[in-house]
Amino acid sequence: MSILYYENTKTFHLCNKEISYIMSVLPNGHMGQLYFGKRVAEREDYSYLYETASRPMTSYVFEGDRSLSLEHVRQEYGVYGTTDFRRPAIEVLQSNGSRICDFQYQGHKIRKGKPKLAGLPATYTESDEEAETLCVVLKDSLTGVKVELLYTIFAKGGIFTRSAQVTNQGAEAVHLTTAMSLCMDLPDCDYEWLQFSGAWARERHLKVRKLEQGIQAVDSRRGNSSHEHNPFIVLKRPETCESQGEAIGFSLIYSGNFLAQAEVDTHDMTRVLMGIHPMGFDWKLEAEESFQTPEAVMVYSERGLNGMSQTFHRLYQKRLARGYWRDRVRPILNNNWEATYFDFTEDRLVEIAGKAKECGVELFVLDDGWFGERNNDHAGLGDWVANPRRLSKGITGLAERIEELGMKFGLWFEPEMVNKDSDLYRKHPDWILSTPGRNASQGRNQYVLDFSRKEVVDCIYEMMAKILGEAKVSYIKWDMNRSITECYSAALPPERQGEVFHRYILGVYNLYERLNMNFPQVLFESCASGGGRFDPGILYYAPQGWASDDSDAVERLKIQYGTSFCYPISSIGSHVSVTPNHQVFRNTPLHTRANVAYFGTFGYELDLNKLTEEEQEMVKAQITFMKEHRRLLQFGTFYRLKSPFEGNITCWMVISEDQTEAIVGWYRTLSHVNMPYTRVKLQGLNPEFCYENQETGKKYFGDELMYIGLVTSDGMCGQVEENTGEYGDFDSRLYVFKACKK
Ligand code: DGJ
Repeated sequence: MSILYYENTKTFHLCNKEISYIMSVLPNGHMGQLYFGKRVAEREDYSYLYETASRPMTSYVFEGDRSLSLEHVRQEYGVYGTTDFRRPAIEVLQSNGSRICDFQYQGHKIRKGKPKLAGLPATYTESDEEAETLCVVLKDSLTGVKVELLYTIFAKGGIFTRSAQVTNQGAEAVHLTTAMSLCMDLPDCDYEWLQFSGAWARERHLKVRKLEQGIQAVDSRRGNSSHEHNPFIVLKRPETCESQGEAIGFSLIYSGNFLAQAEVDTHDMTRVLMGIHPMGFDWKLEAEESFQTPEAVMVYSERGLNGMSQTFHRLYQKRLARGYWRDRVRPILNNNWEATYFDFTEDRLVEIAGKAKECGVELFVLDDGWFGERNNDHAGLGDWVANPRRLSKGITGLAERIEELGMKFGLWFEPEMVNKDSDLYRKHPDWILSTPGRNASQGRNQYVLDFSRKEVVDCIYEMMAKILGEAKVSYIKWDMNRSITECYSAALPPERQGEVFHRYILGVYNLYERLNMNFPQVLFESCASGGGRFDPGILYYAPQGWASDDSDAVERLKIQYGTSFCYPISSIGSHVSVTPNHQVFRNTPLHTRANVAYFGTFGYELDLNKLTEEEQEMVKAQITFMKEHRRLLQFGTFYRLKSPFEGNITCWMVISEDQTEAIVGWYRTLSHVNMPYTRVKLQGLNPEFCYENQETGKKYFGDELMYIGLVTSDGMCGQVEENTGEYGDFDSRLYVFKACKK
């Protein structure tokens, strides 16, 4: 890996074995983009990539240089209205009302490793040899606003990260109304756009469409990254599939309002912008103040979508997630939410936990309802003290009883919220986000606390730290059950109200950071009504997230398949729940529910006492299986093989790094009679290794399984097999392969 700079041509070439990123200083002093993609040769002069064909009807040129119109030039950090009419990377509102800036190259610094971003989650390195970072300094002389563009190239993989820091070095205050993390101008638009969208209980469904002239975007203006869209998009060539072809993934390490957008211009160039949503964003920069944008990550793959996802998985597993749990297999848990909802007593919890222990579960999690007057979802949020009528000896007492059973204990919090009916709200009604004189909308009967205020975050931290300090709590589920409306902070002056959304998320990160630092062995699982804040920003603090409130195995196929495009399997919270399922009322076989949940953190969302003895035996076997294989399932290399968005069969697999062990998950949604013969081509095996199917003892070479395929034809032709009790619909199988002697 290296960052090369050629003084004569003012050209930068950032490269590793897989990728090149090339840019240069333009004749007008701005930074121009030349190339991003597969690694190309080092040369001093790439100026032929700077194309300025004169166009009819575009007479908007720089004085003195009729060939230079920014409208047709690919740029690093474009400004609108300067002969560039595309959406800008940056906009600075000045005291005279103008938003025009002229950012001229001033100089640059190259350093080994990767600096931290103050107050923000970001990818990191563990040694200086893992990455190199370039900082390009630009300045607008009239306002004195300086922009430092940060570029990091990692030594391994097609990974490239970007962010920007804006500093006001002028005498007058300015307002930053747009500051994107990434601006990437691609020379053509022959791409398909992939987004991961949906709704509550239907998160991260894959949507694909062709790029066309105009704007294609996904965003959030809800204060959380949202169920509706994920801060992740992919541009792939039309011929690219899971196993081959070019794809670029763009991911934003941020949990608040975001915009991810591709604008195809009149000459088919594509500008990708990614960063904090400019709508409503307005950050006042007094003299000498700085603003740091979140980090955007780009991954280039010529090994198809699976290649791209595997690079994201490794990066986010190893160099975004941190701490004690980063590399550890995750405990198998039993959460009481769908087992009891608010209707529990301490003894009932211990009874559930006791059966869970008997079946092999390692962690019992007490969900919502244990604190304040929280007997339903109308009261109690904000009062993080155990309700003595439910837990006579508090959390300490319950945690001890669970530990005595031989299990770890975990606890639910919703730190950012408050109910009107709570002591916290009665004491501090001005601590909520709400606009003076306006209706304060409720969501799930609750308000959002103003986490832009330090005293609010401090107060919640103290309550949480007290419990964590006193009781044996090994795990926290951090929930967030509504978005932000009427966003306004009572603590900020009018001209700083455009800062509240971002300051809020900085407060969330601050609370997470303090808890991570002071309770380093506590495992955090993020949650926001399921997957409403499943993003890389939170992954930095919580290495796993509850992927969706929809725990139905069939619905989960799409949710987990979509999630896997960016996020590692070790981060995907997935549990077995009861039938009929509580969200879609579907009956699915117990083995299928487990076969889906294995590809995640794994656990149970039910009262195991309520299963039949036969089912309890199955659960014991499932837990034994998971314990044996979870390192492979959670940390192996994951391949998507057949998409639930395309047909009746879903298939995926994991394989160990040394290619000696693989597990294939195969799922059939609906059963049909007299089905055709079917095969699935596996990936990532060693073609020369011999693999034994652990169930049947049959042996196959890796090349057979990959090039001929695994035969999955159904012996029973899709009919319900007599006496097995298995359903024809929603069936599934696991194939476990181990390398063996020929
Ligand atoms: C929403 C979460 O997604 C559920 O798992 C559960 O924790 C409830 N909140 C509790 O209120």
